[in-house]
Amino acid sequence: MEKNKGREGFSSGLAAFFATLGSAVGLGNIWKFPYVVGSNGGAAFLLVYFICIIFIGLPVMVSEFYMGRKTRKSVVGAVQELNSNNKWKSIGVFSILAAYFIVFFYSAVGGWVYSYVFKAIKGDFSGATSETVKGMFMNTITSPVSSILWQLIVIAVVSIILASGVKNGIERITKTLMPVLFILILVCDARALTLPGVKDSFRFLFKVDFSMLTKQGVLMAMGLAFFKMSLGMGTMTTYGSYFTKKDNMMATAAKVAISDTIVSLLVGIAVFTAVFSFNMAPESGPGLLFMTVPLVFTKLPFGSILLVAFFILASIAATTAMMSMCEVAIAYFVEQKGMTRKKAVLINAIIIIILGIPATLSADPSGVLGGITVFGKTFFDLFDYISSNILLPLGGLLIAIFVGYTIPKKDINLELSNEGEIRQEKLIDFYYIVLRYVTPVLVFIVFLSSIGVFEKILKLF
Ligand code: TRP
Repeated sequence: MEKNKGREGFSSGLAAFFATLGSAVGLGNIWKFPYVVGSNGGAAFLLVYFICIIFIGLPVMVSEFYMGRKTRKSVVGAVQELNSNNKWKSIGVFSILAAYFIVFFYSAVGGWVYSYVFKAIKGDFSGATSETVKGMFMNTITSPVSSILWQLIVIAVVSIILASGVKNGIERITKTLMPVLFILILVCDARALTLPGVKDSFRFLFKVDFSMLTKQGVLMAMGLAFFKMSLGMGTMTTYGSYFTKKDNMMATAAKVAISDTIVSLLVGIAVFTAVFSFNMAPESGPGLLFMTVPLVFTKLPFGSILLVAFFILASIAATTAMMSMCEVAIAYFVEQKGMTRKKAVLINAIIIIILGIPATLSADPSGVLGGITVFGKTFFDLFDYISSNILLPLGGLLIAIFVGYTIPKKDINLELSNEGEIRQEKLIDFYYIVLRYVTPVLVFIVFLSSIGVFEKILKLF
């Protein structure tokens, strides 16, 4: 018997794929992935990243899908239904808190990205120099009225889409916009590949340099895998709860991981080719997105059009990813608090506004709440570091242990094979073994090594 029959969901496997990809592809592909890869040893880092995807990311993603689709519930309801023991309840609560922690800074950056679309259209960047782009970025983050206004616009756009429902909102928008995003990336790449910096950019991204790979780099590869695949805070559980009973969850997870990585690499090639063609140094994070990109793109013939395309694709990525973060709490409000969907969306928006605005204001180093940042970087680094490298892996660890050790194997077999319809016993066995014995151990080792535990032990001898 199908559970929660009246509950809304995605209409097909393709819709589920686009929605999930919409969650995975986000600002992480644009301001994080390329730089982190380039500055941590290129292909050597990618290798570690792929290992993290295969042995940590995919098993956690499939487990989250399992929790959602099996129960057809939000993350809190799913955990409760799968195991009535109260001690697991914290996974649900933890997920919702982590989701908000990320949404606050994500919506602030989303606001800056939206505002840059308009700046690019107005031609504000023509004749830009490194001084003027820096000035404009500082202006963007330090003028409280406009940055809050843009943040409110992002929250409003996301809320309107989410209020339209799972099918009419999330499904329709991701199915339309993901292909658009992909085409815009290809346009940027086509332009970039004719530039002289191609070689340098490929060298930056793909050279194998194990000497640049540090322990912190390994931690970052793991954190990046979690952040990129939207894991560890209930997003994939919530989206999984909207999958049809016919969806092949393992295949969906693999397709999303591969497509997301391709998007990241294509963005990296476009951005770094432009950067190296003008002999500039690759910057990280906000500096790369908001200063370097406008500066180098406008130097190209037709660059101003390219810049508009680039910020539109960044806005699409930010919007569909943020939708998925908000959906975690919205699904919870609807299911556990009995709210209508519209009311849940409204309450969610109010929470983000009340707590997200201080986050935005704190980006201003000279402002009332500022003083902790240099060009917005420390502010970013802090949120980003805590969420990607601590909260998400911790959430993922709990999920791996929860599904791996409290759910009977036969339940997992039934659900992942769609009650025996898909013949993939071997793959399910492999997933189960990895989930129980490899994922938690790897996450744990990376944690310990990043805080230097192994060195301390070695010193004892
Ligand atoms: N994956 C998105 C990105 O790369 C961010 C994201 C969306 C996310 N939902 C999430 C990260 C849930 C962690 C958890 O930008």
